[in-house]
Amino acid sequence: MNSNKVLVVGGAGYIGSHCVRWLMKSGRQPVVLDNLVFGHREAIPSDVPFYQCDLGDEDALLQLFEKESIDIVMHFAAFAFVGESVDNPLNYYENNVAKTIRLLKSMAASNVRKFIFSSTCATYGSPEVLPIKEGAPQSPINPYGQSKLMVEAILKDLAAAGQMSSAVFRYFNAAGASIDSVIGEDHDPETHLIPLAIDAATGKREALKIFGTDYPTPDGTCLRDYVHVDDLARAHIAVFEKMGREGQFQHYNLGTGQPTSVKEILEAVKEVTGHAVPCIESPRREGDPATLYADSSKAKKELGWEPAFTNIQDIIQTAWDWTRTHPDGY
Ligand code: UFG
Repeated sequence: MNSNKVLVVGGAGYIGSHCVRWLMKSGRQPVVLDNLVFGHREAIPSDVPFYQCDLGDEDALLQLFEKESIDIVMHFAAFAFVGESVDNPLNYYENNVAKTIRLLKSMAASNVRKFIFSSTCATYGSPEVLPIKEGAPQSPINPYGQSKLMVEAILKDLAAAGQMSSAVFRYFNAAGASIDSVIGEDHDPETHLIPLAIDAATGKREALKIFGTDYPTPDGTCLRDYVHVDDLARAHIAVFEKMGREGQFQHYNLGTGQPTSVKEILEAVKEVTGHAVPCIESPRREGDPATLYADSSKAKKELGWEPAFTNIQDIIQTAWDWTRTHPDGY
């Protein structure tokens, strides 16, 4: 099958919706499946075929594959709150692993054999060597990271059995919004640093809690690698060319390679918005490693992928533009 149609599971969510737009720009035909529990119908252009359905609904998936003749599936629909995964591990294994197995089974039954999977830097746990390369040991320190690693293992086995060709992207910290401010980050509840800091700066939310100021980092706060959501989306387009054969397993880190501390983010938010971020130094949050940043040279070498956004202020500017134009989200 080679229909040019791409099923975007979780396409109404933050990263999925940005991918849908890049698919359209690159001449592919996205079809979106989303149960709209966390996704937003408004994030999907009205002319894109849309199925409101759960990724664990095998019957509905089989019908969809029958009707749409899909060439590739991209899978963004996951629970992704680290802290919540520590409190409710079964929910995470059910949604992120068991339902993904059902999706893969319905793909196999429909002879759809190309899969692009959203994995995470959380699969590396607390790495000993930085920046993190793809070959680094994967030992997650929370059920969220573990659930993603389990799916990676399944995809490796399916590739070895010649039954599926997969590309796995290990995202670092997705951030920002589309540069035309049409789509952006709108989580409920919001737990991510940049949108919370912007809302604290404008007084929409209470003071930002800095989770931990005693980490072994230069200013004592955690270091992360913030990568623009459009840059993540572009990697998904770049990998298409490499997915001609069945039985492949490819995996790539996606980050800018630049570590930025929580305090540096708050300073950058102040510069971009013109408002200081009120903050309270607080205890560490469970499940947070001190430092995570990527070596993405494999994606550069093999896919020709490089982040267009390399400056944290430029990334935050897009998040700020989205927030200003959508003060209440979608
Ligand atoms: N932080 C605060 N205060 C807040 C929110 C966050 O200090 O109110 C800190 C966190 O402790 C962390 C940094 O800001 O050091 C970034 O936190 P985010 O919640 O924005 O992002 P995470 O690094 O926790 O999460 C991201 C992805 C996850 C992925 C994880 C891997 O969103 O999907 O990276 O660690 F699993």
